[in-house]
Amino acid sequence: MLDQQTNPHPAPLGRLAGMLGRAAICAVALLISLMIAAPGLLFGGGNNRVDEQLTARLHAVGFTGRIESTLTQRLGRPINRPLANIGRLLWFDTITGLKGDNTCAGCHSPTNGFGDSQPIAIGIDNNGIVGPDRAGPRNMRRAPMVLNTAFFPALMWNGRFSSSSDDPFDNSAGFIFPPPEGSSLSGEPHLLVAQAFIPPTERTEVAGFDFLGDNNAIRGEVIRRLNSVPAYRRLFGQVFPAVAAGATISYEMFASAIAEFEFRLTFADAPIDQYTHGDLSALTPSEKRGALLFFGRAGCVSCHSVSGSSNEMFTDFKEHAIGVPQLVPQLTNNQFDGPDANQDYGREGFTGDQQDRYKFRTPSLRNVAVEAAYMHDGAFTNLVAAIRHHLNARASLQAYDPAKQGLPQDLAGPIGPREPLLAALDLRAANPVKLTPAEIDDLVRFVRDALLDPRATPANLRHFVPPTLPSGNAPLSFEFALTHSTHRPATKRQRARG
Ligand code: HEC
Ligand code: HEC
Repeated sequence: MLDQQTNPHPAPLGRLAGMLGRAAICAVALLISLMIAAPGLLFGGGNNRVDEQLTARLHAVGFTGRIESTLTQRLGRPINRPLANIGRLLWFDTITGLKGDNTCAGCHSPTNGFGDSQPIAIGIDNNGIVGPDRAGPRNMRRAPMVLNTAFFPALMWNGRFSSSSDDPFDNSAGFIFPPPEGSSLSGEPHLLVAQAFIPPTERTEVAGFDFLGDNNAIRGEVIRRLNSVPAYRRLFGQVFPAVAAGATISYEMFASAIAEFEFRLTFADAPIDQYTHGDLSALTPSEKRGALLFFGRAGCVSCHSVSGSSNEMFTDFKEHAIGVPQLVPQLTNNQFDGPDANQDYGREGFTGDQQDRYKFRTPSLRNVAVEAAYMHDGAFTNLVAAIRHHLNARASLQAYDPAKQGLPQDLAGPIGPREPLLAALDLRAANPVKLTPAEIDDLVRFVRDALLDPRATPANLRHFVPPTLPSGNAPLSFEFALTHSTHRPATKRQRARG
């Protein structure tokens, strides 16, 4: 009686049960429920429907997961380790900052993927600390991570330094910079070598206002200082025989050392890359669902693209207006835009075209988990908020309260006007994407964990900080946070190259 009452099977299955007996129906039921609940268990290797869909999708969007391995071939040679090491020392040495209190690492810090430790960069007149306690007058934007910039055909938030061929390794069509440099740096072998001509000339970043003269005069002074340090002459002499024979270290040598160190900071072998090579266990089920949203219904890949000249960096390297709240620092040494000097016009500042107002270059999403803040001005201090903003940019901007973002005090005041930002919104950002809380969670996990190369975590970048500097200058003081708890350990292959 009890059996009949609880038997859930309709007539045909019931007859089958009569023929095969109770043991068999239990087996069939188990099989059916296994097929529904855990097809991976039956068919082995996690080769389930999600993997089939995701593999097909990755193929369709042109993602190979092999970008890192193309570096040597596109460079036409292996990385020059001694030169990269000189670049590393220079990165941390305030000697090339004429003001004497800042250098690349003050803004591009190993505590945050060689990106900013602050929502908006602090340059000259800083307190010597790099991390949450850094203080001083603000510049205008957040310093992006330099990891993987070897593959960036357009640099900066407004894309103002770019390779006309759309390939940073190819100078044949010229490198475009704003005046006064214009196309004069096109002879350099890589866009990053050309870019390294710029930072030491920036008055509010490192140079200060005491030294008089144009950009070339500043470069000349930087080089004069470098040549006055015997340890740098010895180091450059080991790479450039001419220097060993008595020639001066040239600015170009300095720039190539910096760029070589940046090539060295290529960390583009994340779980998503390993998954795409065929290791289906490299992503968790949640990350796989998040990936399907990212490359599908959530529309992320239309700007954070992975094919062609995007070099699989999760950006199209183009500028879009997505309505990011405009933070206004209490104290700045830069000139903000607009009648009340409380705006950043973005790409328009470079092109002069009003259509480009509020447009910023799509950032790469590789290794974003290690950033201290998000967007061009760090308006969001956590990744979840940055991603949620995209799902309904209008509502996010309208509801934004700078006092509730966990921002440093001097950035928590009133923001710039919202109305013009809303009017300029890209259609894709203006149309809300509807996701359930569980889907948002999957998407965040995918962006945070599946795009993170374990070599990029603060714990693994720490070893780049030199204990002492060739110039004898006092090193900056870095505040390393505790290790990221979510990252996977580096694989043997990654450690070998790390
Ligand atoms: C005062 C802080 C500061 C210092 C010092 C600094 N940078 Fe930057 N860097 C920035 C900011 C801010 C940006 C983005 C600026 C923009 O988009 O307008 C940037 C952008 C870059 C980029 C482009 C990254 C991308 O995603 O496009 C590279 C490369 C770079 N810096 C290299 C260097 C090097 C090399 C040095 C040292 C020689 C250096 N920076 C010194 C703040 C700094
Ligand atoms: C219309 C193009 C576009 C689409 C679609 C888009 N993004 Fe973005 N994304 C941008 C731009 C542009 C920025 C930088 C905006 C700024 O700083 O003003 C950005 C910034 C980000 C950032 C911050 C990264 C950093 O380093 O600051 C994250 C994270 C991000 N996007 C994730 C996503 C996700 C996830 C999706 C899909 C839900 C998505 N984006 C869809 C253009 C887009």
